[in-house]
Amino acid sequence: MTPESGMSTSRFNPLAHPVCLSYPLRLASTAWAAHIPFGMFLIDVLRPRVVVELGTFSGVSYCAFCQAVAELKLDTRCWALDTWRGDRHAGTYGEEVLTDLRRHHDSLYQDFSELIQTTFDGGLDNFANGTIDLLHIDGHHTYESVKHDFDTWLPKLSERGVVLLHDINVRERDFGVWKLWAEIKDNYPHFEFPHEHGLGVLLIGGREPPGLAPLLHSSESEAAMIRQFFSQMGLRLRVRLEKDLETAAKKELASELNISRETIGALSTELTNRSNLLTAKEDQLAVKEAQLNNILSSRAWKWVTRYGRFKNWLRQSLRSN
Ligand SMILES: C[S@@+](CC[C@H](N)C(=O)[O-])C[C@H]1O[C@@H](n2cnc3c(N)ncnc32)[C@H](O)[C@@H]1O
Repeated sequence: MTPESGMSTSRFNPLAHPVCLSYPLRLASTAWAAHIPFGMFLIDVLRPRVVVELGTFSGVSYCAFCQAVAELKLDTRCWALDTWRGDRHAGTYGEEVLTDLRRHHDSLYQDFSELIQTTFDGGLDNFANGTIDLLHIDGHHTYESVKHDFDTWLPKLSERGVVLLHDINVRERDFGVWKLWAEIKDNYPHFEFPHEHGLGVLLIGGREPPGLAPLLHSSESEAAMIRQFFSQMGLRLRVRLEKDLETAAKKELASELNISRETIGALSTELTNRSNLLTAKEDQLAVKEAQLNNILSSRAWKWVTRYGRFKNWLRQSLRSN
């Protein structure tokens, strides 16, 4: 078969990387969910020795990398760095996020992966220069923060090191990854995805991993197809995620409805009991009223009232004499 005009010879072939079709074991509603297929694909084409993530939160991106490492049975070591306290963009959160992530992560990945609770600066000395094959930067997203993270971690990248930058397509508030991306991307072979807040791929090291060639040397039309492929794959996950969230919300509503129904049932039994009690009291009252009427209309009662009137008359007469 001859290559189509405009197509490079090293074609992108997702069938050679079926791990990108794996359903993620960790899927939550974060802005990274739709990049999972590409994240898994990247692990397959890079076969990295060391993966480091700066900014992990609930672990959607990180667990996708780990899942691919496990499924491909790679000899990769992974580290996730985060304070697990949040920041101004992600919002602050409590220790339940890390506890929940550990519950998922430890049983599946602890043989080759570690969650390190630290600032990014605090974690720097744990890694020698030139050792990281894949660095994912997804921390605080102002220009100053992301530039600081990029600059300080750059020396850690290996001769085939790749940096992933998330949020290169967000221009709201004081997000500034787009600005850093615009400044640095042309200094390195790169590829970018605009979907799901944007993801930038930079080849930092001088040795190009062969699996990256279809991305880094794609024609415009191939690049568009690759973007379309991963954005559609991501969309499928996002749709699934939204469906799962909807199902969970429906389940919660149904259980609230059940509780409400039970409460209504208990209240209505109580109402019936009280209304029966009221009817019984009304019956008793009617009997008493009838008895009273009998007394009031009896001859004896008439004599009693006459006697009462006579007694009053007598008392007044005695007082006036
Ligand atoms: C956008 S979230 C990460 C999202 C994650 N990659 C995902 O897949 O959903 C950013 C995280 O970076 C962490 N973070 C921000 N700046 C940090 C710093 N300087 N040191 C350590 N953690 C930081 C925050 O605690 C937050 O959990």
